[in-house]
Amino acid sequence: MLKKLRTWFTKNAAELPWRLDDLNAPRDPYAVWISETMLQQTQVSTVRDYYVRWMKHFPNVNKLASATEDEVFRYWQGLGYYSRAKNILKTAKIIAGSGGKFPETRDALEKLPGIGAYTAGAILSLAYHQREAILDGNLVRIFSRLYKLSFLPTENKKAAEIYWEQARDVARGSKAYLHNEALMELGRTICKVRNPLCDKCPLATACRAHSDDCCAAFPPAKKRTQQEWHGTVLVVESADHKILGVIAGCKFFKGQLSLPHFESPRNATVGLSAEAEKLIPDDDINSLKPCGKFRHSITTHKIECDVLHVTLRARAAHTAQAANAIQWIPKSKSMETFANSFSLKALKLVQKD
Ligand code: ADE
Repeated sequence: MLKKLRTWFTKNAAELPWRLDDLNAPRDPYAVWISETMLQQTQVSTVRDYYVRWMKHFPNVNKLASATEDEVFRYWQGLGYYSRAKNILKTAKIIAGSGGKFPETRDALEKLPGIGAYTAGAILSLAYHQREAILDGNLVRIFSRLYKLSFLPTENKKAAEIYWEQARDVARGSKAYLHNEALMELGRTICKVRNPLCDKCPLATACRAHSDDCCAAFPPAKKRTQQEWHGTVLVVESADHKILGVIAGCKFFKGQLSLPHFESPRNATVGLSAEAEKLIPDDDINSLKPCGKFRHSITTHKIECDVLHVTLRARAAHTAQAANAIQWIPKSKSMETFANSFSLKALKLVQKD
C-alpha cells in the first residue's frame, strides 16, 4: 500500500511554495513550522500567497523573533485565528533566545506555544526525516474510509489512539516524511470530503469504504452543538465618516477585520456595556441609535445581535483604544472592506435606517 502511495505522490505532488523540487530533500524546520501552522484550518489555495509573503518578510526564526506583535499580525491578517499568530511570535522568541535551533524531539517541540502533536510530527518528519507520525483531518478521513472506522478521534482517548496507531504505522519506515505528506495530498486532492475521486486513488483496492461503496458515510459527521450568544454590534462612525473596525479584542473573528461586538443581554436598554466603553468612552459619543437586530450562525455559535449606530464627536475618533488592533475605514468603502458576512449584516441595517 505504501509503495503505491509513494509512486502516486511522486507523480502527482502539486508544486507548492513550501515544497522543494526534490521531495526527498530534508526541509527547513522553520519553513515547515510556518507552512503547517498556516495550513491548520486554512486551505492550501489561501495559504500559498500568505506563506510566500511571510517568508520574504520573516525568512528565518531570528528575524521573526525581533518583530513586534503588530507587524506579525499584519502578515497574518486574513488567515484568521489570531491566537496562532500570537503563539508563533512567542515560540520564535523562545527558539531565538535559545540559539535559534528548533528542538528535535516531540516532547520538546510540544512544549512550545501553538505546537501540538500534528505540527511536531510534521517538523520532525518533513525537516528532520524522523519516523514520526502526523494526524490531521486529511489523514483521519483516509483512515476512517480505509478501515471503515465509524468514530472520530476527537470522541475519546481510545478513539484517538486507534487513529494515531494507524498514523504511526504509516511513519514506521525510513520514508515517513514522504508517506506523511503523500497522505495529506491524497486527502486534499483525491480522498476529498465530498465526491472523492476513488477511480484515481492509489489506495482504492485496499479501501473498505470504497469496496462497499459507502465513502460518503465515512468519517461520521461531527456531533455539533452550537452555543447561543447574544450581543451588540457597534457601527461606530467618526465625524469624518469613517467606520471603526477591530481585528482583535472582540468575541469572534479574531485576526479578521470585523465590526466591534460585545456580549449583552437580550432586550438591554440602549447604552454601551462596560466592555464597549473601553473602546468608545462615553464622552466621545455624539449620538447612539438602535437599528434593529440580526441573526448569524458560525460553527460554534448561534448569534443574535442588536445593532447600534454610534456617531462620534469631532476628533473623538483618535481616542479609541488598542491602536494596534483597530482600523478606520471610509464609510464609502466599508461594504467592500468588511468582507465578513456578520459585519455586512450590521452595516446593511444601518444603511437601511
Ligand atoms: N495540508 C496540510 N499540510 C499539507 C502539506 N504539507 N501538503 C499538502 N496538504 C497539506
